Amino acid sequence: GQAREAAPIPANVFAETVTAVEHYTDRLFRFRMTRPRSLRFRSGEFVMIGLPGAAKPVFRAYSIASPSWDEELEFYSIKVPGGPLTEHLQKIQPGDTVLMKKKPTGTLVTDALLPGKRLWMFSTGTGIAPFASLVRDPETYEKFDQVILTHTCREVAELRYGETLVAQTLEDPLVGELASGRLVHFATTTREASPRMGRITDLMRSGAAFEALGLPPISPETDRGMICGSMAMLKETRAILEEFGLAEGANNRPATFVVERAFVD
Ligand code: A2P
Repeated sequence: GQAREAAPIPANVFAETVTAVEHYTDRLFRFRMTRPRSLRFRSGEFVMIGLPGAAKPVFRAYSIASPSWDEELEFYSIKVPGGPLTEHLQKIQPGDTVLMKKKPTGTLVTDALLPGKRLWMFSTGTGIAPFASLVRDPETYEKFDQVILTHTCREVAELRYGETLVAQTLEDPLVGELASGRLVHFATTTREASPRMGRITDLMRSGAAFEALGLPPISPETDRGMICGSMAMLKETRAILEEFGLAEGANNRPATFVVERAFVD
């Protein structure tokens, strides 16, 4: 638990209570916490998260991984050795307090995309977090016939969060039926043997990803994209989508794909 000295909660932040913590690997964990009644957000957005105790708490951006209808909030986090926030955040337990700034924001929202047939979600590592929100939101299936969630990680154990997410989404009383037969999970590893290996970027360039999925290559007429991963991954995936003829959009200028960095440290 928290053995830190109490400092007053700043006025622009909510103080919420941790309800669950699950560790996946020595580098990855998820936590759930209470949701402030007044919080409204669009699935795919992020908030600033911190811990109480310090006079000037350290805040870091975290994508909300739970859907907007969920009565709690969920986050999926990396543990960075010596990281100013995650070093402490990784030790939280149910009952502890987590601070959250009041204003959610972000570009990975369906409002920033023009209507289309298929929505591709490209993620590496904890970049899957905003998509964990979006695949559980009925609105996603109202806007797109098919949702393809790609997740590339170094090792097999790092895919577990996504596997559980998709399995639970398909069983969910609210979205299960909507997602059934339309939500496709395409998970790959790069440094440990698994049924599907390789970076999504390489698998799109070679055409292997489209072949495996039984889908035509990405086209601006039918396909929309969302990208969330490391800077290198964003840059490369953006270039590939542009080669396919897609164009980057924003909240005030919807287009055919949107991008956000997976937040770290
Ligand atoms: P790789 O193992 O070949 O580097 P990281 O933990 O470094 O953020 O990487 C997470 C996953 O993203 C890894 O599987 C990694 O593959 C992959 N990756 C790293 N850079 C890129 C890139 N430029 N495009 C696509 N995938 C990438």
